Amino acid sequence: MIDPYSLLRPWLFCLDPEQAHNLTLSNLDRAQRWGLLERFVTKPIADPQTLCGITFPNPVGLAAGLDKDGKHIDALAALGFGFLEIGTVTPRPQAGNAKPRMFRLTEAQAIINRMGFNNDGVDACVVRVRRSSFWQSGGVLGMNIGKNADTPIENAASDYILAMQAVYEIASYITVNISSPNTQNLRALQGEEMLRSLLSKLDQARQELCDRYGVRKPLFLKIAPDLNTEDIHLIADLLMEFQIDAIIATNTTIARDAVQGMQYGQETGGLSGAPVRAASNQVIRALKARLGNTLPIIGVGGIMSGADAREKIMAGASLVQLYSGLIYRGPDLVNECAKALRQP
Ligand code: FNR
Repeated sequence: MIDPYSLLRPWLFCLDPEQAHNLTLSNLDRAQRWGLLERFVTKPIADPQTLCGITFPNPVGLAAGLDKDGKHIDALAALGFGFLEIGTVTPRPQAGNAKPRMFRLTEAQAIINRMGFNNDGVDACVVRVRRSSFWQSGGVLGMNIGKNADTPIENAASDYILAMQAVYEIASYITVNISSPNTQNLRALQGEEMLRSLLSKLDQARQELCDRYGVRKPLFLKIAPDLNTEDIHLIADLLMEFQIDAIIATNTTIARDAVQGMQYGQETGGLSGAPVRAASNQVIRALKARLGNTLPIIGVGGIMSGADAREKIMAGASLVQLYSGLIYRGPDLVNECAKALRQP
C-alpha cells in the first residue's frame, strides 16, 4: 500500500517547519474525525507491558513536545502508539520564544528547536484531556510539566508543584522536565543540590496528593543527553533516594558536532533526531549500569527505524518514545518500531 506521508512529505518540507507541523496536525485531526486514519494506518500492535503499575498496550510512545496542549490526542492515538506524553505544560500560559524557532536539518535527519514551552497553560490542557475519547477510554497518557519562563529558578519547585496538582487526577504518569535547553537555567536543576531540593519537595507534594486522591501516581524525570557519567550516577542515586518511578532519557542536545557546517546547524536550541541517538544511548547505558532493575528507563532520542528502537531496548530501556523520526518517516514508524520490539 502507498504510504500517504511519503507523498505529502516533499510538499510539507517546502513549508516553514512550525507551519508544516500545525498544518499536519490539523489535517490529522480532520482525517481522524472522517474515519480516514483507520483506512491508511495499519492496526496498532498489541504487546502489553506493565511498568510502574501501568499497562502500556505496546512499548512505543509519543514523546513530549509534539502535542504540547493536548489538542490532537485522539488523532495521535489513532497512529498506533502504546502511550502518549502531552506537554510540556506550565502553570500559566506563555507564548514561548520568537519565531522562527524550529529548523529542519534534512541532510542530518534532525531538528533544532527553541520553542521555549509555548503553551496555553496547564488548566486549558487538562480540560482538553478530559474531553478526549482516548483519555475517557482509559488510554495511557503522560503529562509532562515544566516551569514558566518568568519564574525565577529558585522558585522552580513551586511551579512544578502547581502543575503536578493540576494534572494529578487525569495523568497516568507525570514527567518532570528539567532538561529543556530553551528555558533559561532549567538544566541547572539537574545539579546535585538543586535536584535534591526539587525532588524532596515533589516527593512531599506527591504524598499529599496521594492522601487526597487515594492513588499514588508515578513520577518520571526527564534528563538531557549532555551529562557525564558522574552526573548520571548522581541523578540515578537521587531517583532511588526519592522514589521517583522512572527516568526518561533523553531530551534534545546542545551539542552541534554532528551538524557542523550544515544550514541551520548553528541555530540556538535543542538538536533532536539521528544526531542525538548515540549520546542518548550512552546515557541509557550509564543509567542502566547504575540503576540495574530498580527503576525503568524510557529511551528517546534519534529513533528513525525499528532497528534504532531495538538498540534502545538493548541499551537498557523498557519503553521508547518518538518525535523527530515521525517528521522524517511519518506515522508508519510507530508500527515499525512496535513490530521490531515485539518478542517473537
Ligand atoms: C521537543 N522535546 C520536548 N521534550 C519535552 O520534554 N518537552 C517539550 O516541550 C519538548 N518540545 C519539543 C519540541 C520539538 C520541536 C522537538 C523536536 C522536541 C524533546 C522530545 O520529546 C525528545 O526528547 C527529543 O526530541 C529526542 O527525541 P527524537 O526527537 O530524536 O525522537
